[in-house]
Amino acid sequence: MSLLVKGADLLGRGRADLLVRDGKIEAVGAALDVPAGTEVIDADGLVALPGLVDIHTHLREPGREDAETIESGSQAAAVGGYTAVMAMANTEPVTDTAILAEWVWEQGRRCAYADVYPIGAVTKGLAGEQLAELGLMHRSRAQVSMFSDDGKCVHDPQVMRRALEYVKTFGGVIAQHAQDPRLAPHTACCHEGPISGRLGLPGWPAVAEETIIARDVMLARQTGSRLHVCHLSTAGSVEIVRWAKSQGIDVTAEVTPHHLMLTTDLVASYDSVYKVNPPLRPAEDVEAVRAGLADGTIDAVATDHAPHALNDKQHDFQVAAFGMVGLETALAVVTETMVRPGRMTWEDVAYAMSVRPAEIAQLTDHGRPLEPGEPANITLVDPQAEITVDRDASRSLSRNNPYHGRTLHGRVMTTLLRGVPTLLEGRLQ
Ligand code: DOR
Repeated sequence: MSLLVKGADLLGRGRADLLVRDGKIEAVGAALDVPAGTEVIDADGLVALPGLVDIHTHLREPGREDAETIESGSQAAAVGGYTAVMAMANTEPVTDTAILAEWVWEQGRRCAYADVYPIGAVTKGLAGEQLAELGLMHRSRAQVSMFSDDGKCVHDPQVMRRALEYVKTFGGVIAQHAQDPRLAPHTACCHEGPISGRLGLPGWPAVAEETIIARDVMLARQTGSRLHVCHLSTAGSVEIVRWAKSQGIDVTAEVTPHHLMLTTDLVASYDSVYKVNPPLRPAEDVEAVRAGLADGTIDAVATDHAPHALNDKQHDFQVAAFGMVGLETALAVVTETMVRPGRMTWEDVAYAMSVRPAEIAQLTDHGRPLEPGEPANITLVDPQAEITVDRDASRSLSRNNPYHGRTLHGRVMTTLLRGVPTLLEGRLQ
């Protein structure tokens, strides 16, 4: 099958055509010849990015297929311009064995909409006590190299140290959900500050995140191992990561689209769609994470797409589940918060949403330059197009969408996975 992407903006390199054949980019250039039988995609006015990579997605399978499946989540990924997603381990059962990691990997291989790779748990059952089968998961067919207890923090420093030491032996990375359980009571449901005080909701303070990140960068220095900080959300966290990088510590960090756009005052509505972990923070923190992403302290944007069934989410704020969906809207949120205000170029977006996450997760076929011989994983974006977010139009099985009704710029028009359209001119294929 061959396909010509005609007249796309190739970032820095001006407008050009991309000829795609047999899953690869065959040629790049101005006004390429169209071989017979080639399908042409008109990319006039569209930016071409390497297919987006999400290193933090909850696909809920196995166990909560009422909220999301690997298939439905990867369809949402394709709509959002993603060609690869990393599935978090907090499934039911938890992905803490080689057998389960292989199972998720196999389901992913059957799925035609995006490449799906499992993240392994750091500890058995996410209980924070005994290490999971880290080595076996790595040596399995799933070749897991990223491990996380996301949703829970690996809070015991000795367990964290051992996990870092263990994965260092095969070049793996520990992705930490930074939240000290002693500083963040289990009843906490939003950011601790004047708004939580006024609402009478138990909150958790910024320092619960920051102390764990500070501890972990020191453990990464001590062990010489790789640390990745999940969904960093406070100004203090950005400062610590900035310092750690200045010391040459091997740390990377991600921020979610919602922490780039939404602030804690939304919680005053008591609408549980705004309940998320880490919580939405004050405007100063939002400004700090935007600045951190713009200056490269924060490496990547990752969605923390967290679908939940209505019967888990439609409750009082204190009992509702944590999390919001995000795969389909991530690019538009980044366009709105970072590109349109002039804080990131489209090259920066390609880096933070594709190149860098692929490096962090060690995905060799994703985040590659749009050059001849490379896999044809390509996302075409219309930067000017407006979308009005409609939670009911989602491909996700869940409806916990915090952007419902908002108008955002930046529409993903086409997604190619190894040269095959998964999304074509806005329509899922
Ligand atoms: O809000 C969240 N939801 N944060 C997490 O860390 C876990 C996630 C989930 O699994 O629902």
